[in-house]
Order: sequence, then structure tokens, then C-alpha cells
Amino acid sequence: MKYTKLGKSDLTVSRICMGCMGFGNAATGQHSWTVDETQTREIIKHGLELGINFFDTAIAYQNGTSEQYVGKALRDFAKRDDVCIATKFTPRTQDEIDTGVNGQKHIENSLNQSLKNLGLDYVDLYIYHMWDYHTPMEEIMEGLHNAVKAGKTRYIGISNCFAWQLAKANFYARENGLTEFVSVQGHYNLIAREEEREMAPFCADQNIAMTPYSALAGGRLSKRPGETSKRLEQDTYAKFKYDTTAEADSRIIARVAELADKCGVSMTEISLAWLLTKTTAPVVGATKFSHVEGAAHAVELELTKDEIDYLEELYVPHALVGVMAQNGKQKAGNVV
Ligand SMILES: NC(=O)c1ccc[n+]([C@@H]2O[C@H](COP(=O)([O-])OP(=O)(O)OC[C@H]3O[C@@H](n4cnc5c(N)ncnc54)[C@H](OP(=O)(O)O)[C@@H]3O)[C@@H](O)[C@H]2O)c1
Repeated sequence: MKYTKLGKSDLTVSRICMGCMGFGNAATGQHSWTVDETQTREIIKHGLELGINFFDTAIAYQNGTSEQYVGKALRDFAKRDDVCIATKFTPRTQDEIDTGVNGQKHIENSLNQSLKNLGLDYVDLYIYHMWDYHTPMEEIMEGLHNAVKAGKTRYIGISNCFAWQLAKANFYARENGLTEFVSVQGHYNLIAREEEREMAPFCADQNIAMTPYSALAGGRLSKRPGETSKRLEQDTYAKFKYDTTAEADSRIIARVAELADKCGVSMTEISLAWLLTKTTAPVVGATKFSHVEGAAHAVELELTKDEIDYLEELYVPHALVGVMAQNGKQKAGNVV
């Protein structure tokens, strides 16, 4: 495994972050394909053995059961100081808005619940999961700063935002002596490269770490045509994200397979080795031992410039999908 600093922070993270959305009670929550606590523990233990020290979960994953499984496993198998644990909070609910729970209080309540789920007294990175158009940005930044001051998180990150939103929030924080975001978790992989327009140059300029999610397009960049899995069949959300562009993307996926054969490695290794040339630490989902191994091996693979060009050549601009499509539909005028 290789390690790096997470942007301007003091956190030393593995170049692969283990995505923990696939862990949790499948009977409760958004996904029916998640793995149970026994399998979660085995996968996390194996990830630690391979040198992965960076773990990404969220309060929203399977109603907090991902946080519960991940927290317990890491408490049992790792020393607290040796791992970097990230979790996320979602926007205020309508009920909170109606009952006058402001942004600061929402963050305090959410983080307290996450810490309880994880069984920890602090996290390393607390992530604003998606832009909340119904809560003033000032309240969010103050709430996050309060969390840092209280010692409940060491750093803060953001996810699913436009570069202008991150710039606005960080410059507001800087002007007002508050904590700035050190990382951004956006949707970025070989078949979804819109982050390259504004976000990547902004992050390079500001030394903000990019920790992209769905690094393998939910498995599509790891599997050959015809290969399937429980997740590929049941993950309707990912189907909604990728199926409309499947035809154009299939030519890129074919090139991943072709290079994998040429280099004698897996498609996962090619796809992640490419993303590792662009970002700090891709967040990779795993539901099997072999998945973690593929991700760890990718760190050792160096692609040549010609190979990188070959993988990039066929990309055409894509519409934003998933959470970012929702973000794009909101009116910027609503943002305070
Ligand atoms: N911030 C956000 O809004 C957001 C959104 C989505 C995800 N995330 C984070 O990012 C993480 C990763 O996202 P993701 O699961 O959508 O994306 P991903 O990493 O693109 O896909 C993971 C899937 O790829 C397949 N895979 C992985 N390694 C493989 C290998 N070696 N061989 C064959 N297949 C392999 C597995 O699919 P099968 O199980 O089908 O085999 C696995 O479930 C999540 O766990 C979560 O932490 C964040």
C-alpha cells in the first residue's frame, strides 16, 4: 500500500479508501445488496491487512447500520490512531426545518448520532454529504467549525458539490476564521469525468484532496460484458445513473478490458490505476475479499502516458447523474 496526506490536513491516508456503503443490514435502508456484519468484519480485517487505513461511511447508509458495523470492526481490529474514519451528514429534514432546528444544531445532533453508531468519541473527517439548499451555508460552516472545536471531528470534507459551492464555502470560512474543507468526494471515474472541468483544477490550486466515489462505476469498470452480480442486478439507483449512457461507455469499458489483458492484470486495477493518476484516494466499494485485493493491487500499477491517453480518448461529455443531477436542478439563488 502507498500513503499520502489528505490535502492540507495532517491525516496520512492509504491511496485507497474503503467505501462502506455496501455494508449494513439489507433489510433496512436504500440497498438490498449490502453484506451482513460477519462479512463486513472479514472484508474490513482483510483491508487492514492489505494496508488500507481510510474508511468512508455515512449516517445514511442502511439507517446507520453501516456505521455500526464499521465502527465495531475497526474498534476490534485496529488501533484508533492508525485509521482514518470518515462519515457524512445529510441535509436538514422537513421536520427539523418546521420545528426550528437550525443548521448548527442539526450538525451537532447528526454527529452525536454517528459517534454513537460508530462507538467512537471522534471521527477524522466529517463530510457534508450533499449541498443543503434549505439551510444557510453560514450555519453549516459554523456548525462544522463547532464540531472541530469540540474535538468530535479532526477535519471536514464535502461531497456532491460544484466547484463554485466549495469555493464559496471555503472562502467564507477563511474570511471568518472558521474551518475549511480539506477534501471533496465527487462522482468521478473513467466513464464520468465531469469533475475534470472545474473541480480538479480548483482542488489542485487549493491543495484540496479529491477522494472520488463510485470509482468503478458501481462495478461496471470491473466486469466484462455478460458478467453479473447481485448488485448489478439489484442496484436500481446505479442502473439509473449508468444505463442511459451504457452504449457510449461500453467502448471505454472494452478498452479497460483490452489493457487489462495486455498488462496481465484485472480491469479493476486498470480503472483504479487511471483514477490514482488524477486523485488522492479513490473510494472503492467492496463486498468480497477479491474486491479489496483488486483495489490494493491497483496502487502498485503504473500506467504509461500512451495507456492513459488510450483510456481517455473516447470520452464524450456526460450529463450529471445521481445526486449531482439533483444539485444541478436547484436554483443557485436559493443559496444564502
Ligand atoms: N458521497 C456520495 O454521495 C457517495 C455515493 C456513492 C458511493 N459513495 C461511497 O463510495 C463507495 C464506492 O461507491 P460504489 O460502491 O458506488 O462504487 P464502486 O467502487 O464504483 O463499485 C463497487 C462495486 O464494484 C465491484 N467491484 C469492486 N471490486 C471489484 C473487483 N475486483 N472485481 C469485480 N468487481 C468489483 C463490486 O460490485 P459487485 O458487488 O457487483 O461485484 C462493488 O460492489 C461507497 O461504498 C461509499 O462509501 C459515496
